[in-house]
Amino acid sequence: MEKDVLPRHRPQWKTHVGFLLAAIGSAIGLGNIWRFPYLCYKNGGGAFLIPYVLALLIVGIPFMILEISLGHKMRGSAPASFAKVDTRWEWLGWWQIIFVMFGVVLYYSVVIAWCFNYLFFSFGLEWGADPNKFFFNEFLMITTSPFEIGNVRSPVLFFLGVVWFLNWLIVFRGVEKGLERANKLFMPLLFVLMLVLVGCSMKLPGAFQGLSVYLMPDFEKLKDVRVWIDAVVQIFFTLSIGFGIMIAYASYLPKKSQIVKDAVTICVVNSCFSLIAGLGVFSVVGYMAYKLSLPIDQVVDKSIGLAFVVFPKAIGMLPAFPKLFGVLFFSCLVIAGLSSSISILEAFTSGIIDKFHYPRKAVVSVLAIAGFMGSIMFTTQGGLFWIDIVDHFLTQYGLVLGGILECILIAWIYRAYKLREYMNKFCLWRLPSLWDYTVKLIIPVALAVILINSLIKELASPYEGYPWLAIVLIGRDWVIFTLFFAVIVAARQWGRQPDEPIEGLKIDD
Ligand code: PHE
Repeated sequence: MEKDVLPRHRPQWKTHVGFLLAAIGSAIGLGNIWRFPYLCYKNGGGAFLIPYVLALLIVGIPFMILEISLGHKMRGSAPASFAKVDTRWEWLGWWQIIFVMFGVVLYYSVVIAWCFNYLFFSFGLEWGADPNKFFFNEFLMITTSPFEIGNVRSPVLFFLGVVWFLNWLIVFRGVEKGLERANKLFMPLLFVLMLVLVGCSMKLPGAFQGLSVYLMPDFEKLKDVRVWIDAVVQIFFTLSIGFGIMIAYASYLPKKSQIVKDAVTICVVNSCFSLIAGLGVFSVVGYMAYKLSLPIDQVVDKSIGLAFVVFPKAIGMLPAFPKLFGVLFFSCLVIAGLSSSISILEAFTSGIIDKFHYPRKAVVSVLAIAGFMGSIMFTTQGGLFWIDIVDHFLTQYGLVLGGILECILIAWIYRAYKLREYMNKFCLWRLPSLWDYTVKLIIPVALAVILINSLIKELASPYEGYPWLAIVLIGRDWVIFTLFFAVIVAARQWGRQPDEPIEGLKIDD
């Protein structure tokens, strides 16, 4: 790729903290509040923290450093950055942002829409005495199989429109006035709400029992490879790495930036947030078990059930201010979700602007409409099944495969040491050469083991017993389709600007 084809005026974060909050906003999402606590519970309570922290240190932080340094050095979105390394690999950048924009965010925005619904339900505790029946039968009106899609659920569709309108509004206004300002509001608000929520939950009777289940290590569980796989996959998902998002965000950094320190800060803040959210969730679960005089394992549910069934039930039983508690909890989910979904929209927008030089406002508008339309299928009565299937495939396969290929491209073809030497020129925290081995060997090998293991398991029995056809549609056809699309876009000519050269866009080693 020629060096002067990126748009001349690259937006920039106005403040350093603005970048940090935006990156933390992308990382902290629905996954921190309902996925992480559930994984901890399922995988041996406190013992899960061992693979989780190891995955954070060995995979999460080094990969975050790789993405931030790459975006910073290449000053481009994922496709542009990969193309600068080797034009034959541009498709990989497209593939990553296509599958997050036309995969993850489509169902993710529907879950945010549910949270919005529940935020308003909280004002009247509308889920009543049987939140399970309310969620599945009255709210989602769920069918019995993914192929029975039924009708669109209008309350979900309405808030889906709100979610996409907000996504559009924020990204439309650009990096500084949109993303930076929104995150400067969202993140402090989220931290305060979460602390209030956790503080109140921990005072409830029975909270201690809940916490002891959450944090009591069951080391036996660590013998199961699934636990280790869950930890690595969760680290990738929760840090929003492998999707080209952090590359795009880092491309808006000024020249003199503390990449290593920032990457570590983002990872640590995100994981601390998860741990703290888990304290709140399990205190509430403990309270409920206490109230119902049931053992905790009969109260905890799978991730979605935890937020939309267990929590509402517990909220209904609170001794004081249940409505306020519900509003706080679902507001946290909405804010955390929105700050992540805007980052996905931005990653794709920045890829298109870099390549075709279309105006931001037009790109964001078209994408928001396409995103809204694409999400509609998940608002149907069979939508929950599709959310479950798509989430499983994108995280267990797409994300893992994308991560392996990214390591091969950057650590082997471009060469890790070049990025390390680049960072060490101006970063106060210097990277040791151990980092090279981590991104060259440890991460791709770990991901490859995960991929093979998941495939073997999948072939032995389809995920959660879903019909093979559903699995083939998502697992094979969707992957092939997105790959095909990525290759086509990558093969298109880069938009030209005859009057350059552009300052600061050259790859200076
Ligand atoms: N990191 C987000 C979470 O934990 C999810 C996310 C995935 C966001 C991919 C952006 C991209 O919920």
